[in-house]
Amino acid sequence: MDLSLTDKVAIVTGGSKGIGFQTALHLVREGAKMTICARGQENLETAAAKIKEETGGSVIPIQADVRKAEDCQMVVEETIKQFGRLDILINNAGTSSAKSFEEVDLDTWAEDMDLKLYGAINFSKSAVPYMKEVGKGSIINITAVIGKTPPGSSLPTSVSRAAGLGLTKAMSKDLGKYSIRVNAVCIGLIKSDQIQKRWQRTAGHLTWEEYSKDPKHAIPLGRIGETEEAANVITYLASDAASYVTGTAINVDGGRGAAL
Ligand SMILES: NC(=O)c1ccc[n+]([C@@H]2O[C@H](COP(=O)([O-])OP(=O)(O)OC[C@H]3O[C@@H](n4cnc5c(N)ncnc54)[C@H](OP(=O)(O)O)[C@@H]3O)[C@@H](O)[C@H]2O)c1
Repeated sequence: MDLSLTDKVAIVTGGSKGIGFQTALHLVREGAKMTICARGQENLETAAAKIKEETGGSVIPIQADVRKAEDCQMVVEETIKQFGRLDILINNAGTSSAKSFEEVDLDTWAEDMDLKLYGAINFSKSAVPYMKEVGKGSIINITAVIGKTPPGSSLPTSVSRAAGLGLTKAMSKDLGKYSIRVNAVCIGLIKSDQIQKRWQRTAGHLTWEEYSKDPKHAIPLGRIGETEEAANVITYLASDAASYVTGTAINVDGGRGAAL
């Protein structure tokens, strides 16, 4: 399949670790020029060096917090300064936050919405004018499969993710006139940094293999997924191979979610 990513320019938020890092690596391997951003400078520098070493491609690491609109604008402008255009935006930065309604205080609600909903809005606001200049673009919002059927135990994440799915659909309807595609990828459980920390914190007596295959996760494919398996789907959606795909939300969850 021709992904036609050579010389396309992409930004991956939260590109220093986990799914974001793997996605940035995949896109650069396919020929894209890349900006990765996150808050932690050291992890960013390490991630950019690894991608350059493995691919020989162009990657710039920029420290930024997606909750701050001015940081998002700065990252987009720096990308344009370095590479001259913007084709792909992957809104990936995020963390999990899973409690019951009564356990979540109002500050936590606001922080979660700032990170997972406004982070995507902030970046997309800055990116869309440059995608219009190119004449097309691809925005991918990385969300969670629980956003489709929010459980009562996964607040506030499931609600901010449901809002992210609504944002994806509405933006796809509005921006289709500019040939800007907007899609979501709904993650179930993927072996990223945060999931490995959760394993060590809650079930450190098990090997990774035992934890991954634990029936309590209720994953029909019987194991936790790999970051490469998420990055493959994201890379496809980012590419011209998905030129007629917009306004959709693809589950990458081994069948775990209740909704299609
Ligand atoms: N892995 C899963 O099973 C799973 C399940 C459902 C949804 N997801 C979603 O998939 C996405 C990727 O998850 P992951 O598991 O790969 O996460 P991860 O390994 O914890 O990596 C998260 C990345 O986001 C960055 N980040 C966090 N807050 C940020 C902020 N305010 N501004 C900029 N960057 C920020 C982190 O760097 P810094 O901390 O240095 O900023 C890091 O690069 C997230 O949105 C996550 O919620 C993952």
